[in-house]
Amino acid sequence: MERQSVEIYEVGPRDGFQNLKEYIPMEDKLHYIGGLIEAGVKHIQITSFVSPRAIPQMMDARELAGECLARYPETDLFSLVPNLFGAKSAWESGIKKTSYVISLSESHNKANINRTREQSLEELWRIREFLPELTVISDIATAFACPFEGVMELDNLLELIRKINLLGINEFVLCDTIGMAHPAQVREYVKAAMREFPGCRFQVHIHDTRNMGIVNTLAAIECGVEGVQTTLGGLGGCPFAPGASGNTSTEDLVYMLNKMGYDTGIDFNRLLALAKEEYASIRGAYSGHHINIGSQCAV
Ligand code: COA
Ligand code: ZN
Repeated sequence: MERQSVEIYEVGPRDGFQNLKEYIPMEDKLHYIGGLIEAGVKHIQITSFVSPRAIPQMMDARELAGECLARYPETDLFSLVPNLFGAKSAWESGIKKTSYVISLSESHNKANINRTREQSLEELWRIREFLPELTVISDIATAFACPFEGVMELDNLLELIRKINLLGINEFVLCDTIGMAHPAQVREYVKAAMREFPGCRFQVHIHDTRNMGIVNTLAAIECGVEGVQTTLGGLGGCPFAPGASGNTSTEDLVYMLNKMGYDTGIDFNRLLALAKEEYASIRGAYSGHHINIGSQCAV
């Protein structure tokens, strides 16, 4: 069988940890990030530069980023920012690549960032102007559905991508923030985006509310997306999206793709051991989140 490849972007240290009220010591965060790299993970979203009032868990972003970049210069380490303030902090910490989040739904953008989408677009323009060397990836939250507005229109998604693309951004992450998408919708939206913007690269970021995280992610992979975002242990959730549950779990995805002959470069057994360790050490902090760990045996 021809070996296929897809890039796996681990976003657990950001999306997984952001929902935890109890602060995880920076040394522990570094331990998991190091463990992911040892297992073969090549792309990691290590933190977000957001208001500590909005997400207290990320108050160590500068220090953590500095430490990670010093320890792992070969790994693709990136962050998430909601505004120019965050982008400046990221850049000053040595970050060269960051996600910038805008929601397709106006009401979720307000709940998450306290700005209209138009204000978020203006802010993105300012980031491009002030920090032209910072690589910006556009995270489109609620790309498929919104907790407040329901299913999102494909035409509106394409229009938002067009506006962001005009600011010189050509990497996009279509996020199913609350896990309401299904494979047919993922295929339709991903294919349309890839057809409309052939010069751009696309990833998906799928939450696993209805146990469809893995099939939705596979649907996107089979459409030819460049990468997919997942979290160790399936942790995750957006504190500003009612109903948001965990992400698609990295170890489940790696298990499936390795078996299918994809060249993930990630050691499933090491990843599973790390996921179990993480779950055991911080499970007390979780309640009500979807954690799909331990459903499979090591191989
Ligand atoms: N990092 C740290 N502090 C920040 C910041 C950032 N990126 N952006 C703003 N602040 C600080 C300001 O300096 C100000 O501090 P002060 O009160 O001490 O003067 C305070 O936060 C309020 O600033 P303001 O611009 O009015 O922000 P806001 O209250 O309208 O909140 C965001 C807007 C974007 C900062 C906030 O909603 C946020 O951080 N959201 C992120 C949500 C998130 O992470 N969601 C999950 C990931 S998608
Ligand atoms: Zn998410």
